[in-house]
Amino acid sequence: MIHRETVQVAALLTASWMLLYACSRPDDESGAPRDPEYYAGGLNTTWESGPQAYRIPSPYLGAAALADHQSGDFLFHSAFEEQSGLGPLFIQSSCESCHRMNGRSHPPFDKGDNSTGFLLRLSLAGESEFGGPLGVPGFGTQLQTEGAGGNAAEGRFIVLFDNVPVTYPDGTVTTLRQPYYTFFDTYQELPADLLRSGRNAPALIGLGLLEAIPEEDILALEDPSDADEDYISGIANRVWNPETGLPGIGRFGWKAGTASLIQQTADAFHQDMGITSETLFPVEACIGQSNCAGTSGTPDVSLEAVRLTAFYLKTLAVPARRGLDRPEVQRGKQLFHSIGCAGCHVPEWKTGLSSLHVLSSQTIYPYTDLLIHDLGEGLGDGRPEYLASANDWRTQPLWGIGLAELVNPDGTYLHDGRARTLEEAILWHGGEALWSRNDFMALSAEDRDAVIAFLRSL
Ligand code: HEC
Ligand code: HEC
Repeated sequence: MIHRETVQVAALLTASWMLLYACSRPDDESGAPRDPEYYAGGLNTTWESGPQAYRIPSPYLGAAALADHQSGDFLFHSAFEEQSGLGPLFIQSSCESCHRMNGRSHPPFDKGDNSTGFLLRLSLAGESEFGGPLGVPGFGTQLQTEGAGGNAAEGRFIVLFDNVPVTYPDGTVTTLRQPYYTFFDTYQELPADLLRSGRNAPALIGLGLLEAIPEEDILALEDPSDADEDYISGIANRVWNPETGLPGIGRFGWKAGTASLIQQTADAFHQDMGITSETLFPVEACIGQSNCAGTSGTPDVSLEAVRLTAFYLKTLAVPARRGLDRPEVQRGKQLFHSIGCAGCHVPEWKTGLSSLHVLSSQTIYPYTDLLIHDLGEGLGDGRPEYLASANDWRTQPLWGIGLAELVNPDGTYLHDGRARTLEEAILWHGGEALWSRNDFMALSAEDRDAVIAFLRSL
């Protein structure tokens, strides 16, 4: 429901947003202006720092934009049913059931635990006609764990872990867990040469800002042959974009396998919920499979519904930094740079021009380069996605990560949710980040705590 007062207030805010913004900058007690990094999302920053922190609309949306945001909010949080298009095969019935409070999820630990937001991507060696992953006959590119209308689910899986102890140079031991997957109840046999990749649902904040970073600025950071000899050699992924019918650079997903928010949204409706969409994905993904009966032929949602859902994500605010001035956090920030974390987790960007003025020309602090990097075999999944090969992952944006545990206390880190803590996430870095991770391990316990305190301030 959109309340008239909210709309009026929003309209007023838009009319004088620059003035209001200037006046509302909360300065510190001494009266000195705050470090600009407090405004992680520029104008799209929220001071909410509780469990709701990922659910706040960008504060300076105009009335029309706020109304669209709220319509998208409704779609994102609505549970679909068979009558409204869910299935024939699906994983969850709403976006929200995986992206809980818009936050991250965790891997399923037992056979009954199917409400986590975790999914398994599948493929065979080779490429699809568009250069993406090659689907598995009878299964497609992800395992559908639910069936509607009497259709059999494709199967289920559980995630099990091997313990991997890691010893710091100072003798401290931390135990990591390496996941592996066991399938059960598959409706037909999976091929022996199956490629699989576990994917944890990430937090969904500030995505409109990431989309508004000019492509040429991202490409300018590419360094495929490590010409600057910093051991880091990232590239942008190049992917197929069904929205434009053209290839584009990948920005979203753990391997940067999708180009735009519209594409990611339509794809999620299609693949995760069995919801077809006008123009983009009008045909069910399971078509041709024996467990795909009852498809209607007409798309389940309009292009406008996809646009509104994507618009909701595009206009979610980013939480402001917290405690940035604390000496421990300042020390952690210094170390984050000196041990090379910022080589990939690039702190600052400026967005280009966007059709939405609040997203235009914003100085933002997402802590990513949006490039894909080889992070070593330990994190590798053996499953390529366009230019992202077996061990490649997109540098995950770190903004808002300090609030992750508050938003979803069960949520875990890294692409497959294997890391239970920020420390574990760092210790898994290998490949291009191995030296950086080793430098982290060589720090004193106090300095390691400072790096973690810095991450918690993000
Ligand atoms: C079954 C669980 C599930 C459902 C349902 C789901 N998602 Fe996701 N979502 C994921 C996972 C897992 C990823 C990571 C995908 C990957 O990297 O391959 C993801 C990634 C995303 C991303 C990319 C974020 C980033 O930082 O790159 C967006 C945007 C997104 N989802 C939006 C949606 C929307 C909109 C819906 C509803 C239409 C939705 N999701 C439904 C699990 C889900
Ligand atoms: C070579 C590039 C690179 C360097 C250097 C690097 N990272 Fe990362 N970081 C990544 C990538 C890529 C991921 C995603 C990996 C995955 O999910 O498997 C990631 C993930 C993370 C995550 C988990 C994010 C999440 O949402 O789950 C944290 C925390 C993190 N990095 C912190 C650090 C810190 C601290 C350092 C310095 C010690 C560092 N990184 C150095 C590329 C890098």
